[in-house]
Amino acid sequence: PTLGEHYSYDTIEEISNYLLSRTHIRPKIGIICGSGLGHLGETLSDATYFPYEDIPHFPLSTVVGHAGRMVLGTLNGVEVMVMQGRFHFYEGYPLTKCSMPVRVMKVCGCTHLITTNAAGGLHDSYQIGDIMIVKDHINIMGFAGNNPLQGPNDPRFGPRFPPMNRAYDPELIKIAENLANDMGIKDETHTGVYICLGGPSYETVSELRMWRMLGVDAVGMSTVHEVITARHCDLKVFAFSLITNKCITDYDSNGEANHAEVISAGAKRQDVLATFVTRMVEKINEM
Ligand code: 6GU
Repeated sequence: PTLGEHYSYDTIEEISNYLLSRTHIRPKIGIICGSGLGHLGETLSDATYFPYEDIPHFPLSTVVGHAGRMVLGTLNGVEVMVMQGRFHFYEGYPLTKCSMPVRVMKVCGCTHLITTNAAGGLHDSYQIGDIMIVKDHINIMGFAGNNPLQGPNDPRFGPRFPPMNRAYDPELIKIAENLANDMGIKDETHTGVYICLGGPSYETVSELRMWRMLGVDAVGMSTVHEVITARHCDLKVFAFSLITNKCITDYDSNGEANHAEVISAGAKRQDVLATFVTRMVEKINEM
């Protein structure tokens, strides 16, 4: 990325001050809602809504199924900030820009990030509507020279060379697995490995078979750069995927991946997902 696309610490502070000066909420947890999962943002109490076009320096979200606003409010009494709609690499934004809101969350006072996405299920046992708790990712876009931390490093955010093992907080993963059990959705919940592919085209059969062979369980177009940015500035991270479709790994299949099935799977599971996130928020607040 060029320096012109970089957000300085001052700019991140300016954005944070814009939000905090318009609400008395002081968020502890940032939440990013993926395609079809934005319903959670409607369930906040004491909410103030900030359309992205009104927030200084914010890009616009251009994807169908993403509302495009930030909401500050409470979820069962816990102060949170929620992104309804995120920024993707395939929209033409550099990864620094896609994950800039994570730094805004940090500077607003968040200690935790919960990030969610819609993903294709690659593991054979994953069914449409299942939840995959992310235990790790493969940053393949980073291997290809696209990392959200490229460019000058401001140590007020974090170190030049941040580690990425244990990026997905092991304690939060355990809490989430127990929660799935308590909610009676154990059989529909898995723990697996996520990969972010650039999109917007879906993958070929050969590509999907390659990723499966390399240990990937779910494929999507987001999240990884947000997590890298969050770990850089030492936010604790929890992430999960809603499996919205089964990846086609059979050369003879007539099926085709499409955005409509992604949105419809999200709509069907929005209540369960909102409950899952709300209860994770409560548990994080109790930690
Ligand atoms: Cl099949 N691929 C990718 N990259 N993202 C997805 C998907 C597939 N299904 C939902 N999101």
